[in-house]
Amino acid sequence: MLHTRILIADTAEQAGKLAADEFEAVIAKKPAAVIGLATGSTPLPLYRELIAREKAGKIDFSKVRSANLDEYKGLAPDHEQSYRKFMQDNLLSHISIKPENTIVPLGLAEDIEKMCQEYEEKIESWGGVDCQLLGIGHDGHIGFNEPEDHFPAMTHEVKLTEMTINANKRFFDSIDDVPRAAITMGIGTIMAAKKIVMIVTGADKKEILKKTFWGPVDPQVPASILQFHPDVTLICDKAAYPFD
Ligand code: F6R
Repeated sequence: MLHTRILIADTAEQAGKLAADEFEAVIAKKPAAVIGLATGSTPLPLYRELIAREKAGKIDFSKVRSANLDEYKGLAPDHEQSYRKFMQDNLLSHISIKPENTIVPLGLAEDIEKMCQEYEEKIESWGGVDCQLLGIGHDGHIGFNEPEDHFPAMTHEVKLTEMTINANKRFFDSIDDVPRAAITMGIGTIMAAKKIVMIVTGADKKEILKKTFWGPVDPQVPASILQFHPDVTLICDKAAYPFD
């Protein structure tokens, strides 16, 4: 817990607004900023707020570049449950960002290793991620980096754990439809971001939040590596904050 700045919001909605302040500041300072984006329920209040702020003239996304954390393996970009589709529906189609300036790992790539390499190169060619958004899984995963005996470095393919498959089944017709593998930025890719904003909301995340920032740095809790990042802003709501 060396460098983490912590903001505690009353509600998840307010946490989204505080996170929007962070992104607004990054983009005001650098109009062509590279922002790292996440899917899931947690960022939805933030995305609603970013859309509203551009409409209100407070943010301009026209020069911004975005790179997403992850994608399911085997899903086409227009599949109902693909992360590309999620991003289009919940943010990208509603702001002025140029489609060619948005990247999400390609779930259908024939050569996954090559695609992962090219994903890293693209981010590097943009000058790296200026501000990376993160949520956290109940097992401490960030992106799809699940508990392991090491911290994986670069964008790579992963097999999903039973816990993650179960957590994500709510979005599919049946558990059998949930993909068993995904492509994710590595822990190294995430740690290379200049600034990280993590949002954690809901009482069900309290326990993992405590382990992440107040426990030992351990690849069995992948997000705990963030304790070593020099510029992390943790935004949580009261329900998730582990202390009274
Ligand atoms: C999503 C991602 C995941 C989620 C995590 C929390 O792109 O990388 O690590 O951030 O699974 O998901 P929610 O926000 O749905 O609880």
